[in-house]
Amino acid sequence: MRGFGLGVAIVGTGMIGAVHARAARLAGARLIGVAASEPSRSEQAAARLGAGRGYDSAEQAIADPAVDVVHICTPNATHLEFALAALKAGKGVICEKPLATTAADARLLVQTARESGRVATVPFVYRFHPMVREARARIHAAELGPLQLIHGSYLQDWLLDSNDTNWRVDAAKGGASRAFADIGSHWCDLIEWVSGERLVSVIAALNTTVPERPGGNRQSYASAAQGEAAAPVPVTTEDVAGALFKTQSGVLVNLTVSQVSAGRKNRLWFEIDGAQASVVFDQEEPERLWLARTRSTELLVRDPNTGSAEQRRLATLPPGHAQGYAQCFEAFVADTYAAVRGETRDGLPTFDDGLRSANIIEAVLKSSATQCWTAIEPEHRAEARPRSSDRTA
Ligand SMILES: NC(=O)c1ccc[n+]([C@@H]2O[C@H](COP(=O)([O-])OP(=O)(O)OC[C@H]3O[C@@H](n4cnc5c(N)ncnc54)[C@H](O)[C@@H]3O)[C@@H](O)[C@H]2O)c1
Repeated sequence: MRGFGLGVAIVGTGMIGAVHARAARLAGARLIGVAASEPSRSEQAAARLGAGRGYDSAEQAIADPAVDVVHICTPNATHLEFALAALKAGKGVICEKPLATTAADARLLVQTARESGRVATVPFVYRFHPMVREARARIHAAELGPLQLIHGSYLQDWLLDSNDTNWRVDAAKGGASRAFADIGSHWCDLIEWVSGERLVSVIAALNTTVPERPGGNRQSYASAAQGEAAAPVPVTTEDVAGALFKTQSGVLVNLTVSQVSAGRKNRLWFEIDGAQASVVFDQEEPERLWLARTRSTELLVRDPNTGSAEQRRLATLPPGHAQGYAQCFEAFVADTYAAVRGETRDGLPTFDDGLRSANIIEAVLKSSATQCWTAIEPEHRAEARPRSSDRTA
């Protein structure tokens, strides 16, 4: 069940690198070392995160024979280089989303992962909320009836102020899409996985509502103080996005994405409406699921003693003792390590899912540019089957 004995390295020690470090340790791995943007920062991060050592570079971390799995937690444009190097060095890889900044690069990574036979996963971690698993189980048991409509939003406010900035704003570091690729990608992965529907085409519009933001060093999260010191530069990536999709069975899917909606911190919300019932999940209230029929409404509460097998598997705390984002990450990392050991876990997002997401992002960008309905590239999705050489003693 746990990752005992696995040696892991974390490349990129910012916000999410620290979350990975904690999840790795809780899953029983040995945190061999960490690599930040420069050696002195690696040393500081190693002390802060309790890692064995700070590496001089990402390359040194990837080459370390003591490392079985490399976690790539750096800005998006670096993912391709580091993930390719790690796979070629024979490591298992957890690469942050978006897997790459273009679909062609994501495709190359999928191909390389398949050839390597290594486990390669992407943290679409919202799949690991127990009540998301409950929603999925009920849809698969046909409790909602045939699906009629899927809608929702993913809203944040951390880039609302024109002094707010981050490397994500810069297309060279984050990719051509910002808000949609950064958070819309999570929503699309989640609703496809929960509903079983497949998005086949899209009409989308992107809007940059804050035309200039501070330039300069964008390595950290938004900082007004940092922003005030740096001259403003034009913003080319979107703050908000609207997308209407059609699925393979003709269901309409409507999504609103924003990083400039005051008061919304990390509000991933979806509703799936079937012919018999509707279900709602809100990431900021993840312990509950709203399930309604025309004449009755239920509020389902996470409970390890009841509900679907996967809800119970991921419910690690007693009811009423709130689980959230951190536990999703812990479950995702533990399941990745289980896959490295050759075990099978339901709903583990792989590089194939990262490529799927890149194809959706690319179609959204194209649709926004052409103002036309755009087909989403269908990719053959192969099950990631770890080879016996992935197993560790
Ligand atoms: N799955 C999720 O829920 C989730 C949540 C947040 C972020 N992310 C993803 O994680 C990645 C990092 O995001 P973040 O919010 O932690 O950013 P961040 O800015 O907080 O951290 C990025 C870190 O990478 C370091 N870095 C930059 N270049 C490097 C290099 N060449 N070698 C080593 N380190 C380098 C920076 O110094 C910084 O510490 C992004 O791809 C983002 O999309 C995913």
